[in-house]
Amino acid sequence: MRVLVITGAGVSAESGIPTFRGKDGYWRNLNPAKLATPEAFAKNPRLVWEWYRERRQRIRSAQPNPAHQAIVKLAAHTDEFLLVTQNVDDLHLRAESEGQRLSPDKIVQIHGDIFETRCSRCACSRREPEEEDSNLPRCTECGELMRPGVVWFGEQLDLRKIEQVDNYLTRPSCPVVIVAGTTAAFGYIIDLALRAQDPDGQLIEVNPDPTPLSGFATHLIREPAGIALPRLVDELLAR
Ligand code: APR
Repeated sequence: MRVLVITGAGVSAESGIPTFRGKDGYWRNLNPAKLATPEAFAKNPRLVWEWYRERRQRIRSAQPNPAHQAIVKLAAHTDEFLLVTQNVDDLHLRAESEGQRLSPDKIVQIHGDIFETRCSRCACSRREPEEEDSNLPRCTECGELMRPGVVWFGEQLDLRKIEQVDNYLTRPSCPVVIVAGTTAAFGYIIDLALRAQDPDGQLIEVNPDPTPLSGFATHLIREPAGIALPRLVDELLAR
């Protein structure tokens, strides 16, 4: 049983984390797509840091939901498993099922980690402590401005993470591919799902709304992930 799961912001929505393109995505009426860019950071790093620090605080006080827990359960009961998430929150990593968590080698955060702070110039990076001050962080090595460790619009994905995903996909294809809570706005998300899918396998989309991926799916579950994924995982494991 080889499984690939791909997730997006919709999976964290039931934990109170706003999605990007949902009506709740806007911050101070600012479009996230305008804030999450190198240009916005260059123009107003203080405003961008305020946004990320507010998001970090909201995530710290949020809890994983049944969708996150179901994915941990699926990972624990399948031979080969990989979760590729676009989410920069740590809810997948904090989620537990039967006292277990996802092992770090079974998750790839392709858009980065919001709790990482890294230098805009050198390779320095660190994980942020619970309490952050509101100063603009400077690199202790080169003195340059530091930025959130996430992938912004217009930026390349981390090659090491692409390699990790490619390694998983070079092995036999997956009889089960689950895509949950994403608009599949990026072509590489659809590409990933189709490359992983076993020709006779299942491509299951979990999303209340249709997406560009829907036409490729073998199964469409138009329900919130927190309701659909626990049931789906139990069905898959029962089988
Ligand atoms: N359960 C399942 N799906 C949900 C739920 C829910 N409870 N609530 C909303 N959704 C769906 C929406 O219908 C939408 O299709 O989740 C999707 C959220 O889409 P986006 O906000 O576009 O988030 P995502 O697909 O993760 O965005 C991808 O784009 O903005 C960049 O880097 C950012 O990682 C992000 C990437």
